[in-house]
Amino acid sequence: MKSKFLKYHNNRLHLEDVDLGKIADEVGTPCYVYSRRSFEQAWCQYNSAFKERSHRICYAVKANDNLSILKALTLIGSDFDVVSIGELNKVIAAGGKPAGVVFSGVGKTRNEIEEALKAGVGCINLESCEEFERLESVAENMGAFVNVAVRVNPDVDPKTHPYISTGLKDSKFGVPIDDARELYRKISSSKWLNPSGIACHIGSQITIVDPILEAVGHVVDLALDLKTIGIQIETIDVGGGLGIDYRGETPPTINELVDGLCRVVPEEFKLVLEPGRSIVGPAGLMLTRVEFIKKTKDRNFVIVDAGMNDLLRPALYDGWHDVLTYCESLAGVEGDICDVVGPICETGDTLAKNRRLHVFEGDLVAVADCGAYGSVMGSNYNARLRCAEILINESSYRIVRRRQTFDSLISDEKDVLID
Ligand code: LLP
Repeated sequence: MKSKFLKYHNNRLHLEDVDLGKIADEVGTPCYVYSRRSFEQAWCQYNSAFKERSHRICYAVKANDNLSILKALTLIGSDFDVVSIGELNKVIAAGGKPAGVVFSGVGKTRNEIEEALKAGVGCINLESCEEFERLESVAENMGAFVNVAVRVNPDVDPKTHPYISTGLKDSKFGVPIDDARELYRKISSSKWLNPSGIACHIGSQITIVDPILEAVGHVVDLALDLKTIGIQIETIDVGGGLGIDYRGETPPTINELVDGLCRVVPEEFKLVLEPGRSIVGPAGLMLTRVEFIKKTKDRNFVIVDAGMNDLLRPALYDGWHDVLTYCESLAGVEGDICDVVGPICETGDTLAKNRRLHVFEGDLVAVADCGAYGSVMGSNYNARLRCAEILINESSYRIVRRRQTFDSLISDEKDVLID
């Protein structure tokens, strides 16, 4: 068991000091459960690793945008990285300050840019020359001044899953680093845009520091080069945080990453980091109940009440998540090899493949490490309701997202029903 907040106590699985069986009985399954102390500690580890170095930790909202999580992070001083106006509005709804928000993303619409400028967003990360034109025209129309960073694409391989690699030259993200100088010239001659930073993000679930430092090294070279033409950058935004241990991966420690960054980036630049997965990933799990044990000649299926609409990572990226039995006594028995599957009409609806599990109909199991990119990637596929989310704080817990109701599922279709 990897999270120190997840442990067996009296034969029952607990997150912090709460018996997960109690939550399943009260709230039903499937549901996501998060440990507040776990994500707060992870955020604080990032924050304190920088010591005296000038920095900002902008939590990547896309990893988990639950309002209560955003609020808890706001309360401990987090800033935020968003990729849509919806995420920005969630940050504001949770009490976060727009001035502390970095707005990234390759396809920001005119409307989104307008709304973000109206709200007073801290920095817009530009992803193309075309977006520069759009931003400048919106800013000019509004008479608004805006800080910008260009997200550069350094063409460095992050050695992670291809779907979440973003810093190679054939990726849609960022401006090729060799084109960035010209773009900065344009930005600095704009009346409305201030070239305050350079950003880069080469991918997610990165478990080695070297590619990150290599990419950041290129960014520093660019910043120093811009200085020679009179453009003084203030911040270097190095993108997302570390990968996590889903299945024995050994990512570097937060201190190793931050020490490396502080070494590569000269002190004159303020550092911005946008971690998501490593903050909330290990802090969350999904509780699901076994509906059937279906045995065929070739395979054993544990059919549970959660599906790929609740947790998409295994289907989309072959993501591996540990599956834990609620009762410790069952965890000790070497069960049959089985596939844990959901009720959805797709073969890809497999949450875990070839696991040794000793469980029975009605048993509760926990799918580990899915606080990041879990609930946020959920959908209503097969007209299934979005599940509830629960936040634990020591021995107490709160439902921080109610299970969706059937009425809410159909509300946007009911009032426009054809005759
Ligand atoms: N900043 C930018 C610009 C990003 O694109 C991302 C993630 C982050 C920060 C946060 O990176 P992290 O610290 O979480 O590694 N759904 C996928 C992950 C997609 C990540 C997209 N960008 C998954 O479930 O693995």
